[in-house]
Amino acid sequence: MQFLRNTWYVAMWSADLVPGALESRTICEQPIVLFRREDGVAAAIVDQCAHRFAPLSRGKLCGDHIECPYHGLRYDSTGTCVENPHGSGRITPALHIASFPIVEKHSIVWIWMGDGEGEGDESLIPDFSHLDEGAPGVISKRDWMVMEVDYRLMVDNLLDLSHVNYLHEGILGTAELAKEPVDLVVDERGDTLYVTRTSSNAPPPPMFDMMYRNDGQRVDKWAEMRWNAPGVLVNNAGVCPPGEPRQNGMTVLGNHLLTPIDERHCYYHIAAVRIGGPAPADTDEGIAEQLSQLRRFAFEEQDRPMVEAQQRAYDRAGGPDKLKPVMLSIDSGPLRARRILDRLIAEESTVPVSVGSRHDDQ
Ligand code: FES
Repeated sequence: MQFLRNTWYVAMWSADLVPGALESRTICEQPIVLFRREDGVAAAIVDQCAHRFAPLSRGKLCGDHIECPYHGLRYDSTGTCVENPHGSGRITPALHIASFPIVEKHSIVWIWMGDGEGEGDESLIPDFSHLDEGAPGVISKRDWMVMEVDYRLMVDNLLDLSHVNYLHEGILGTAELAKEPVDLVVDERGDTLYVTRTSSNAPPPPMFDMMYRNDGQRVDKWAEMRWNAPGVLVNNAGVCPPGEPRQNGMTVLGNHLLTPIDERHCYYHIAAVRIGGPAPADTDEGIAEQLSQLRRFAFEEQDRPMVEAQQRAYDRAGGPDKLKPVMLSIDSGPLRARRILDRLIAEESTVPVSVGSRHDDQ
């Protein structure tokens, strides 16, 4: 699989990069070790020593440097070898390993995986300011999981929310809701895609009803999913009394951050922000916990088995290009996103990331 390189990927939640720790991630098939320097700045270098390829994430952090667990070479946050305890102690250029631009923004550690146009340009990170510290609303736990699935199947899942009435029946949808008319609008603005589903005077989705008025009364409801390549999405979803402005109701901003590990595994970072609604009977902590548990259940126990079963169907057929899905009207969003992604990948010149070459120190 060819990955989009010149873009920001979500490496992890900022809070999960604890000072003093070495965190191992594989992104676009590239093993990476992340850590914080003593000044707190996050850094990422290839998780592979230039000497005999030991994973540096199993080493130890000595101030601003990582010491290789095998023979003790030390590297700084730029991937430069700064100490060789063997022989003459000479440090040759071949002992250098690659590092990656890192930006912490909106409580997320973003990593740039390419070395082409836009490298390190923070302004290219999509807006997730609703996840900033102090932003309005009540935020769920910032959670994450590993899915055994091509990240693009998860994007397909999120850009076609008609599935909520079937796969998430009782939480995000119901059989009754499946019969309600829905306006589906797919809109491209530059390379950003919006897929919006709206219903007027419809029964409330169970989770929204529970968190809003808990009376089962009909509502106007909306779900506007914003997608940016390759797999960064936020769903502005909510309910309000029929015919009233949305700000009179409740909005949940659901964040879905997909990062490919390889062609059939991905990281899935999730968090949701509840904004507005009637004065909650529960505490902020109670709402946050409820949001966290319901969403984790929906994604882990309902989406995950489905998309992983899909993945196995593709595997049995010999790969993602061997099966041709029969497209329905609900697939216009996923199809448009795939087209944008394929174009962006085709447009960029991919240069493999160097992991250093082998030399001795004599
Ligand atoms: Fe790292 Fe030998 S493998 S110092």
